[in-house]
Amino acid sequence: MENKFGGYYKKSREERIKILKDLEYIDEKMYNYLIEEKSLENYKADKMIENELGIFGIPFGIATNFLINGKEYIVPMATEEPSVIAAASNGAKIIAKNGGITSKVQENRQMIGQICLYDIDDFSKSLKILEENKEKLINLANKYHEGINNLGGGAKDIKFLKKGQFIIIYLYVDTLDAMGANILNTMLEGISFEIENLINAKKLMAIISNYSLNTIVKASCKLKVDSEYGNKMMLAYEFAKEDVYRAVTNNKGVLNGISALTLVTGNDTRAIEACIHSYASKDGKYMPLTKWEYKEGYLHGSIEIPIPIATVGGSIGLNETTKIALNILKNPNAKKLSEIAAALGLVQNFAALNALVTDGIQKGHLKLHAKTIMEFLKANEKESNIVIEKMIKENKIEIEYAKKILGEIRNEYKL
Ligand code: HMG
Repeated sequence: MENKFGGYYKKSREERIKILKDLEYIDEKMYNYLIEEKSLENYKADKMIENELGIFGIPFGIATNFLINGKEYIVPMATEEPSVIAAASNGAKIIAKNGGITSKVQENRQMIGQICLYDIDDFSKSLKILEENKEKLINLANKYHEGINNLGGGAKDIKFLKKGQFIIIYLYVDTLDAMGANILNTMLEGISFEIENLINAKKLMAIISNYSLNTIVKASCKLKVDSEYGNKMMLAYEFAKEDVYRAVTNNKGVLNGISALTLVTGNDTRAIEACIHSYASKDGKYMPLTKWEYKEGYLHGSIEIPIPIATVGGSIGLNETTKIALNILKNPNAKKLSEIAAALGLVQNFAALNALVTDGIQKGHLKLHAKTIMEFLKANEKESNIVIEKMIKENKIEIEYAKKILGEIRNEYKL
């Protein structure tokens, strides 16, 4: 893979934006939008939420070096946390050198909606009637949202279960590139009247479920490593399997990437995070979402995760930055975006574990901070390397100290 983005972070902001334009990740209009530091316009923000006062800023950047399913990507991310984007770029670079990531979403990606019925007279009779009317209810659901049906999506299946005092109805809908809350809620509320007529029961509620179990993506990678390192990575996984305190932190690291991509693509971060955390405890214990295994000279990494992400609907079309983010990804459909998100989660976890089992997390953070100081002082590469090493050794990452050493070495080495 050609390293088009090597040292990208060392460029100025303007240069970084120009590189995106030159490499055709963004067009002229998007270039001007970014250069002019524009943000979501107030008249749009006022339509998005209630009692709007202004725009809350979160930095938006790109992680570089991704090779996913044989294709190169740079991944847009919105995050307030330092080192997340550097870590993703670093992890992606190492994994790309080893062949990249394979990521595949399940066939029949569908969202699920529920109707909860109570005051049931006769459970077995009601369930029998519902089963007999299965096709009719699916067709009726599709009538309530003909648009999605005409596009090739729509309601595909319906299931009925007795749970406690309730009968719960599960409607499975292919929402194509939308997250589908409106589609599902319209269908569910529509068919619930028919259902109340079919059986003697009352509707408690009808609503999409955010436990989107039919959006599973599996991503994996393979790296040639030595046995000491490979075994440590595997132990890091075992540690997270054994201990929930570690599993939660491990998964927070995975979400460092996924949530940042979810946010910048205008998606519902809460829905996706709730879904992912529930999936992590699907077997009754909260588990790491990623798996690392060392076998015969190779470290095998994998992630299996639901990602109910969308590329249309909601606020996605309103926010210009979101459009730019999707453009940077070459406007993927929802399935492809979910594959990119899973790959990002795996990479982000790799980068964190890689730091944790080697130098520790702090060294990388200190190095990043030190590098920023040297960029600010406009030191050349040779000067930077000497000053950074000294600052880290002395554990003194301070601008005044950096200036002092820089002055000393400029005198001493006549740099
Ligand atoms: P390094 O060894 O100093 O990096 O790592 P490098 O100088 O060798 O550069 C390698 C590549 O990293 C670069 O390639 C860049 O792609 C990228 P190049 O462009 O040179 O060809 N890179 C950067 N990208 C953007 N801005 C930068 C930058 N520097 C390097 N300034 C690094 C330093 C921090 C990357 C490394 O130590 C690392 O990956 N650390 C992990 C940090 C991390 O995971 N942070 C997330 C926050 S901590 C957390 O919330 C999660 C956690 O608790 C989860 C868990 O416990 O599992 C850790």
